Amino acid sequence: MGVSIGIIAIKGGVGKTTISASLASELARTHDKKVLLIDGNYSAPNLGLHMGIVTPDKTIHHVLSGKVRLKSAVHECYGVDVIPGSYFFPNDINPLKLKDKISGIKQDYDFIIIDGSPSLNEEILSTMLASDVLFVVSTPDYPTLSCSLRAARLAKQRGKPIAGIILNKIRDPSYELSLHAIEEVTGIPVIAKIPDEKIHTKALFYRTPTSIYKENSKFSHEIRELTNALNVAKSRKRFWSSFFSFAVPREAINRELLKEQFYTEQFFFKER
Ligand SMILES: Nc1ncnc2c1ncn2[C@@H]1O[C@H](COP(=O)(O)OP(=O)(O)O)[C@@H](O)[C@H]1O
Ligand SMILES: [Mg+2]
Repeated sequence: MGVSIGIIAIKGGVGKTTISASLASELARTHDKKVLLIDGNYSAPNLGLHMGIVTPDKTIHHVLSGKVRLKSAVHECYGVDVIPGSYFFPNDINPLKLKDKISGIKQDYDFIIIDGSPSLNEEILSTMLASDVLFVVSTPDYPTLSCSLRAARLAKQRGKPIAGIILNKIRDPSYELSLHAIEEVTGIPVIAKIPDEKIHTKALFYRTPTSIYKENSKFSHEIRELTNALNVAKSRKRFWSSFFSFAVPREAINRELLKEQFYTEQFFFKER
């Protein structure tokens, strides 16, 4: 049985879609995992564009309105099964059906990544309910942090574990919130620190996930490290044996703890 991971934030523009696309492609490419990637941003879907899908004929909207079966809306891109959204679709969808729709195919995948909506309505609830575990994407500023806190509260109310915060678009750390401050305020570990880089504009222009477009970027490195943490097959020994020999960044330690959590099936993950 695969694990479903919701990528959420109650704010647009923080990098949810960019990260979802790269996380999914990296799990498929580097770890050879079977991955389903779903656009959960029903009112403003754009995940397809990040994955090279421009005008999909069957989308998550068709699935949620009961017009097609989930499997019929799958588009294969970069080794990932993608279900994009539709810009031009009437609103007769039931977002809360997503959980039911994916329950029947969870055994076919190792990971199901859901790119969440920033709207604090049934769209974000749709992602939360369908996810076993959530990653919150945040930028290191106070307004976004307050949104992340709201997301954390909502997830708690719904009984959904937040596995970590992905801190994105770090520009000038001297004038931004530190990892420690964010962890202290939210009580959630930061599992990736990603700088602001220009490469995303080009990657999107070529409709390619950034981690594939530029493998040696800091973004791609951090995404790879995160997928290593989700990939339970990797050995943990080397990390812990080298742990005391030199300074390891806090986010790397948090990732190792995340891996432990996946091991102990805290997030319902079962190794195949
Ligand atoms: N680390 C980053 N550095 C610079 N630009 C980024 C970074 N992450 C995302 N972006 C850009 O920010 C914009 C919003 O990203 P997106 O993934 O669409 O956010 P969201 O899904 O949260 O609305 C896009 O133009 C994307 O290319
Ligand atoms: Mg988005």
